[in-house]
Amino acid sequence: MNNPIGVFDSGIGGLTVVRELLRVLPDERIVYFGDTARVPYGSKSTDVIQKFADQIVKFLLSKEVKLIVVACNTVSATALDWLSSRYSLPIIGVIEAGAKRGVKATRNNKIGVIRTRATIGIKAYTTAIHQLRPGIEDHSKSCPLLVPIIEEGGDVELTHLALTRYLLNFKQKDIDTLILGCTHYPLIKDEIQQFMGEDVKLIDSANVVAHEVLNILNNTGIGTSQNINNPKHLFYFSDIPRGFKQLSKRFIGYPISYTKVILG
Ligand code: DGL
Repeated sequence: MNNPIGVFDSGIGGLTVVRELLRVLPDERIVYFGDTARVPYGSKSTDVIQKFADQIVKFLLSKEVKLIVVACNTVSATALDWLSSRYSLPIIGVIEAGAKRGVKATRNNKIGVIRTRATIGIKAYTTAIHQLRPGIEDHSKSCPLLVPIIEEGGDVELTHLALTRYLLNFKQKDIDTLILGCTHYPLIKDEIQQFMGEDVKLIDSANVVAHEVLNILNNTGIGTSQNINNPKHLFYFSDIPRGFKQLSKRFIGYPISYTKVILG
């Protein structure tokens, strides 16, 4: 099936997932939507997040996507089941993938998850982790200022200050695995690794999600039959703020062309 794969996020963080999808599935076409006009979702309530996610899914369906990747931890935690019950195409979130990789990685059965505020009250990660291995101790910490710091360019000093504020006590929990529960965090992976120490394994779910999509395409026979060099991907954003070109390049690794689309 030569239809594209839809990917969306509250903003540009989901481009880190696109980067992995393009590596694992080089022949597939991607249609991306980033809700840059309404980011961050991490501070919003569940019903608002569901409403926004529903508008985005409708938009992606208008582009005839065959599968949707919710490249946003906040939407995956708050709206994935709700979306899956409303639409018949496969909709894949990032939480189960991160949990799976985390459970595989831990040696002492203590996993940490850092995430946005909206996902903290929702036990999506805990449930996913305990379904895979019930005895695991999991610890969560919301780090609300990390997203704006990263969007502002990821200043090293500011990042370190925020990590100290959020993770200093967290470091005492003796976790050996830390799930990056937000699409933005891979961009400051080195700083987080340095802060937590080399013994803590960091989990970035983007790569796991890309392999999960590959499996679904293979198992359901909806992978593309085309073998195109550089398929044309489409990137839509609900706002193009100042400095966007540079910022999007940091997330995906190369300059992209994009179109502004206002939803709702
Ligand atoms: N994309 C969001 C996530 O992964 C982070 C940004 C936001 O708060 O909207 O949770």
